[in-house]
Amino acid sequence: MNVLVTGGCGFIGSNLVKYLRRARPDWTVVNLDALTYAGNLENLAELEKDPRHVFAKGDIADRPAVEALLKKHQVEAVMHLAAESHVDRSILGPEVFITTNVLGTQRLLESCKAAGVRRFLMVSTDEVYGSLGPTGAFTETSPIQPSSPYSASKASADLVALAYHHTFNMDVVVTRCSNNYGPYQFPEKLIPLMVVNALHDKPLPVYGDGGNVRDWLHVDDHCQALVLALEKGAAGEVYNIGGGAERRNLEIVRGILKALGKPESLIQYVKDRPGHDRRYAIDPTRIKRELGWSAAHTFEQGLEATIRWYVDHPRWWERVMSGAYREYYATQYGHAR
Ligand code: NAD
Ligand code: DAU
Repeated sequence: MNVLVTGGCGFIGSNLVKYLRRARPDWTVVNLDALTYAGNLENLAELEKDPRHVFAKGDIADRPAVEALLKKHQVEAVMHLAAESHVDRSILGPEVFITTNVLGTQRLLESCKAAGVRRFLMVSTDEVYGSLGPTGAFTETSPIQPSSPYSASKASADLVALAYHHTFNMDVVVTRCSNNYGPYQFPEKLIPLMVVNALHDKPLPVYGDGGNVRDWLHVDDHCQALVLALEKGAAGEVYNIGGGAERRNLEIVRGILKALGKPESLIQYVKDRPGHDRRYAIDPTRIKRELGWSAAHTFEQGLEATIRWYVDHPRWWERVMSGAYREYYATQYGHAR
């Protein structure tokens, strides 16, 4: 099969492209990525000479170019990951989130419709459901109540994708996943940021009281779920994906410091994120029952391996964190990294 992965040079996308090359070696993966600050072709250096990985630099919103790409490679299915993905950036500058995540998704759907793509997998997030209280978990029928410009843009994109199913009979499947962690995650997200700061003996900025809860999933477990949803998911349906590993932010930060032999005095409580969702938790019953998925990694082992990966790859994160990232960090935390 020929599959188009959008955003294949980002964190989840690059792990997915490599996962597909291992798990579905007879597929050809066309990787469309605009190479924003979050996209890094170096993540896929090992596939440089692989004839079954075709990289195309471009914008999902560029209809003529995308349609031509789909036709040229006779793409049968699309796994749509390209997005602006960071909540804090969406608070500093929401517009690009609407442009890329909402309009970009609609244009991509239109290109897929025109090119006769058989299946469209919309990779979305549990953040579309908003925030939970101390108990309960999101199911596929939980109300859509996004809090941030990021989650509102993802919720909008999901609804547009589902509208293309209902209105134009396109074969669309939506997945909504909890927080991913693993190698190649840009160090603006909680886990890699804390590891990198700890390695530099810099303050670890914990928002609010550090009691917010996220439900963590190893990126490879997410990739496996995405392939199952693509192959076996029912058209027009939504599948939640989550690893059942709820942790408070402070627990994670303390765990990272312990693993690196650094003192807890590096923790610095900073102003809370505006509109900060308190708790996310996924009920993955449906994907387990209907598609036979389950997470293979435990959080403790996965976190340890992830910390080790960042310790072993300083050149990767030093390079991606140079330039424009420094300006972003200074805006966010009021001091240079
Ligand atoms: P990321 O920010 O690491 O990567 C995004 C990729 O999209 C980058 O390679 C970037 O260059 C590319 N991109 C951005 N705009 C583009 C455009 N207009 N055209 C083409 N490419 C463009 O993101 P990620 O964390 O890997 O997330 C991937 C997807 O998974 C996103 O849709 C996100 O909403 C979703 N998701 C992420 C998580 C998570 O924990 N990271 C959890 C659930 C869902
Ligand atoms: O739930 C899925 C979502 O997970 C994805 O859709 C998003 O693309 C992804 O970025 C992630 O969103 P979060 O906002 O949950 O992830 P982030 O790593 O930014 O923050 C995780 C938690 O840690 C959150 O409660 C905020 C807190 N935090 C984050 C940063 C960057 C801090 O306390 N300090 C920080 O410096």
